[in-house]
Amino acid sequence: MAQIFDRSSNALARASLILTGLIVIALGVTLNELQRSPWVTRQGQRADQPVPFSHKHHVEGLGLQCQYCHVSVEKSSYAGIPPTRTCMNCHSQIWTNAALLEPVRHSWATGESIVWTRVHDLPDFVYFNHEIHVNKGIGCETCHGQVNEMPIMYEQNTLQMEWCLNCHRHPEENLRPTSEIYNMDWKKPSDLNPVWCTATQVQRGVPTAESVSCTTTDPGKQMLMPAALQLSLSNAPGGRAVFATTSAKFTSQEALGGFLAEHYHIRSARELSSCEVCHR
Ligand code: HEC
Ligand code: HEC
Ligand code: HEC
Ligand code: HEC
Ligand code: HEC
Repeated sequence: MAQIFDRSSNALARASLILTGLIVIALGVTLNELQRSPWVTRQGQRADQPVPFSHKHHVEGLGLQCQYCHVSVEKSSYAGIPPTRTCMNCHSQIWTNAALLEPVRHSWATGESIVWTRVHDLPDFVYFNHEIHVNKGIGCETCHGQVNEMPIMYEQNTLQMEWCLNCHRHPEENLRPTSEIYNMDWKKPSDLNPVWCTATQVQRGVPTAESVSCTTTDPGKQMLMPAALQLSLSNAPGGRAVFATTSAKFTSQEALGGFLAEHYHIRSARELSSCEVCHR
C-alpha cells in the first residue's frame, strides 16, 4: 500500500472519511427531524372526508355531547365513530336536500357505511385504551385539543411515544375531576379558579373515581379554607363500616393533581413508563 499512496493521499483519505461521517450524521438528523415532522405525524392536518362534518357546528353550535356520537368512550378501548343512523336522527328532517349530505343519504339508503378517513391512528404494536384514561381523569381536550372549535377534525398532538411518556411520567400535571372530562374549557385550579373536592374512603369494589366529587363553585362554610384537610369520621348507613371523608380547597394543579392521583389510585411514574404498559 505504501508504494501506491503517499502521505498526502493518506490525509485526503482521512478527510473524505470525516466528510462521509458528517454526511451520514446530517442524513440521520434530517431523517429524525422528518420522522417527527407534522408531514409524517399528520399533526394539524385536515383529512379529506367524504362529508365535511363540523364538530364546531354540532358540539358548540347545537350543544351535542361527545357521548351522543362516541358512545363507547367511557366503557371500551375505542371511542367509536357513529353509524349513519345517528346522523339520520336529525338529518332525515334537517338539511334533507343539502348536497353536502348526499353521502349520508346514500349510506342510509344502501346500508353501506360511510368510510371516514382516520385522523388518529396508532401503529398496531401500540396498545391504547380510552376507558382507563377517561375514568382516571384525563379530559378529551388534553389529548385531542378544543374539538368544539374544529370545523374539520385534525390531530392536535403527535401521538408519538415521547408525547405519551411525557404524561405517563407526570400524570398529576394533567389530572382533572372525572366530572370534567368532557369540558373543553377546563382550567387548572388557581387562586382565581379554585376547585373544591370531597373524597370518601369507600370499601373495595366501588370504582375509585366515584368516591371523589369536585365542584368549581364554593360549597360554603363546611369546607375549610386553603388546602388544610378536614377529616371527619362518621358512621355509614347501616352502622357497620366507618368511613372517612376528606374535603379540601385547591388553588394549584400541583395540589389537585396530587390529591386526585392518590384517590384515583394512579400508579407511579416508573410503573406507567415501563414498556409493557403500551407494548404487550
Ligand atoms: C354528531 C356526532 C358527533 C359528536 C357530538 C361528536 N363527534 Fe367526534 N366525530 C364524529 C364523526 C362523524 C367523526 C368522523 C369524521 C371526522 O373525523 O370529522 C368524528 C371524529 C372525531 C375524532 C377523530 C377520530 C379519528 O379519526 O381519529 C375525535 C378525536 C373526536 N371526534 C372527538 C370528539 C369529541 C371530543 C367530542 C365532544 C366534544 C365529539 N367528538 C363530538 C361525530 C361526532
Ligand atoms: C342533533 C341533530 C343532529 C345530528 C345528530 C347530526 N346533525 Fe348535522 N346538522 C344538524 C343541524 C341543525 C345542522 C345545521 C347547522 C348549522 O348550519 O348551524 C347540521 C349541519 C350539518 C352539515 C352541513 C355543514 C355544517 O356543519 O353546517 C353536515 C355536513 C352535517 N350536519 C353532517 C352530519 C353528520 C355526518 C352527522 C352524523 C355523524 C350529523 N350531521 C349529525 C343537526 C344534526
Ligand atoms: C390519553 C389521551 C386521550 C384521551 C384522554 C382521549 N383520547 Fe381519543 N384518542 C386518543 C388516541 C391515542 C387515539 C388513537 C387510537 C388508535 O389509533 O388506536 C384516539 C382516538 C379517538 C377516536 C377515533 C376512534 C377510536 O376509538 O379510535 C375518537 C372518536 C376519540 N378518540 C374520541 C375521544 C373522546 C370523545 C374523548 C373524551 C371522552 C377522548 N377521545 C379522550 C387519545 C386520547
Ligand atoms: C395526559 C396524560 C396521558 C397521556 C397523553 C397518555 N396517557 Fe396513558 N395513562 C394516563 C393515566 C393517568 C393512566 C392511568 C394510570 C393508572 O391508573 O395507574 C394511563 C394509563 C395507560 C395505560 C394503562 C392500561 C392498563 O390498564 O394497564 C395504557 C396502555 C396507556 N395509558 C397508553 C397510552 C398511550 C399509548 C398513550 C399515547 C398514545 C398514552 N397512554 C397517553 C395518562 C396519559
Ligand atoms: C405510554 C406508552 C408507551 C410506553 C410506556 C412505551 N412506548 Fe414505545 N411506543 C409508543 C407509541 C405510541 C409508539 C408509536 C410512535 C409513533 O407512531 O411514532 C411507540 C413506538 C415504539 C417503537 C418503534 C420505533 C419508534 O420510535 O417509533 C419502539 C422500538 C418502542 N416504542 C420501544 C419502547 C420501549 C423499549 C419502551 C420501554 C422503555 C417503550 N417503547 C415504552 C408508546 C409507548
